[in-house]
Amino acid sequence: MILGGSGFIGRHAVAAALARGLDVTIGSRHPRRIDHKLPAIARDRPRIAVHMERMNSEEHWRDIVRKHDAVINCVGILRQRGRETYEAVHHRAVAALARACRERRLVHVSALGLEAPARSRFLTSKRRGEVALMDSPADWYLVRPSLLDGHGGFGAEWLQRVAQWPVHPLPNAARGRIAAFDVSELGECLCALATAPRTDAAADERIVELGGPHSLSLLEYLRALRRSPSPAPLLPIPDWLARLTSHVCDVLHLTPFSFGHWELLQRDNLPSRNRAAEWLGREPASVGRNSAL
Ligand SMILES: NC(=O)c1ccc[n+]([C@@H]2O[C@H](COP(=O)([O-])OP(=O)(O)OC[C@H]3O[C@@H](n4cnc5c(N)ncnc54)[C@H](OP(=O)(O)O)[C@@H]3O)[C@@H](O)[C@H]2O)c1
Repeated sequence: MILGGSGFIGRHAVAAALARGLDVTIGSRHPRRIDHKLPAIARDRPRIAVHMERMNSEEHWRDIVRKHDAVINCVGILRQRGRETYEAVHHRAVAALARACRERRLVHVSALGLEAPARSRFLTSKRRGEVALMDSPADWYLVRPSLLDGHGGFGAEWLQRVAQWPVHPLPNAARGRIAAFDVSELGECLCALATAPRTDAAADERIVELGGPHSLSLLEYLRALRRSPSPAPLLPIPDWLARLTSHVCDVLHLTPFSFGHWELLQRDNLPSRNRAAEWLGREPASVGRNSAL
């Protein structure tokens, strides 16, 4: 079962699972309204209604989990709406799902950079979800990808657009480096993890940090995504303005730039041990058109 199977990561996990010949169920809040988001080969797959914000106890998950050999959780929210709070979706539902999985394989998609102190509730709720997963009886893998590139991602497509602008506006404190990773390769890794034989691996081995082959600053990454051969000049943005903009974007639900991302940009978003080649069975691809940068 792939939760969030209509999302950017989830769609690629679904495609990779079908390419492997796996029998896939897709979890979504709106199972009847996601045809246009799914790869064509996935449109006849069974779907199940899943509202993470309402599924905060083991009982909510038990029957769903029992019908599947493995669960891949690709659900995440950038902004809260009503009952869909960070705490409910990123922490309480994950904790309940992990308890319900018991001995079953649960592959949970999280993010890099959550262990450092953070003020953003987007980040702290995701970290609490990680801790609950690791404390659970599930046969878990915790997947932390770097920034993703690919078709159809809210953040990925926004960065692809910004890369074509005549200037590249960047906050002064955005000094963190990223190892941008191809989302379809992430989908392949998720399916490899979901189907890997059971092991008694220690927790460190079950934490799978993934990234592409290059470590780039955000400016270098924008230049790698740029179609024009002439680089756009850097437009430095004062940190106070970047921070204020991130709060405004959060309140108005504008752009993928959030306060959590403002915090993440200030530190490296690199895998401490990149396991992409191990789980792909090959070296990960370079991301971006000028990815020799
Ligand atoms: N994109 C990146 O570069 C990146 C990098 C590292 C980590 N991540 C993490 O990966 C996760 C997924 O990212 P994404 O880019 O794939 O996001 P996305 O495109 O927004 O997909 C999220 C999915 O979650 C589902 N969902 C949202 N709220 C839900 C709820 N209350 N109950 C059940 N399902 C719900 C949605 O499915 P329905 O609308 O069909 O319900 C949607 O398909 C996030 O936790 C994100 O932080 C992303």
